[in-house]
Amino acid sequence: SLKTNKTYTIGMLTGSNANPFFAEVIHGVEATCYERGYHLVLCNSDDNLDKQASYLQTLEEKRIDGLLVMSAHSDPGFFEMLRDRCQWPLVILDCQAPGMEADVIMEDPEQGGYEATRHLLNNGHRSIACISGPADLSPSSQRLAGYHRALEESGIPAGWIIEGRLTAESGFEAANRLLNGLDDGQQPPSALFVGNDLMAMGVICALQTRGYRIPDDISVIGYDDIELASYTSPPLTTIHQPKAELGRLAADTLIKRIENPGRKPEVKTLRSTLVERQSVKTTM
Ligand code: RIB
Repeated sequence: SLKTNKTYTIGMLTGSNANPFFAEVIHGVEATCYERGYHLVLCNSDDNLDKQASYLQTLEEKRIDGLLVMSAHSDPGFFEMLRDRCQWPLVILDCQAPGMEADVIMEDPEQGGYEATRHLLNNGHRSIACISGPADLSPSSQRLAGYHRALEESGIPAGWIIEGRLTAESGFEAANRLLNGLDDGQQPPSALFVGNDLMAMGVICALQTRGYRIPDDISVIGYDDIELASYTSPPLTTIHQPKAELGRLAADTLIKRIENPGRKPEVKTLRSTLVERQSVKTTM
């Protein structure tokens, strides 16, 4: 409004909106913005630095009151650019924000990776591979760190680690890479920890196409608990991220910061929890 110079508009920069995880988080963001009388301008950058720069310019022209930034910043130049150009209250969602003056809202990916791997160990698995997300994305690398912690704690050596790109297609390819890499007569791992549900769906499809039964031959656990995870065959055991709550909390935190810019930046962590369905077999 003219009086306060506020536009009641919030900008949101996301890495990818093709993944239902992000759609479910955005739904929470949007619900809170709407309730509090703010408009949301959504900019999908495909994790591309040029697009991110161009959207920041658009948001400058639109005169937003605050900015939400969600995940998928594999380019280290992104945070540098944000530090130079972000002139608004800032909240970062779903990734760490090294050296940024911003609130950070996320789950604990290291703990989630640990709990996923522990669940496989508790069910008697001893040969556990990991199909992880990109090593340069902080939630993915931290989930992998949790996988290593759980195995080390039990004195069990790490298995194959294959990197995917968080898409179903990359999960499909990663599972095939793993199977193609087995020597003659070598057994595949008995269980796979997969860094997100979309990749887990691609993995299940690849394994079933090659004749493996899930979970009788190979167990699979995912991460995110997107809605589709209940509808795979078999239904996917996974780590549930509180997606709508993450989105709501991020929007709420940003609006508080807009209304009270002097607040100290905080890191707020929500808890992720195991959801047991039918893709993990007990071998004990
Ligand atoms: O599915 C997308 C994944 O990448 C999620 O697990 C999210 O936390 C992200 O970083």
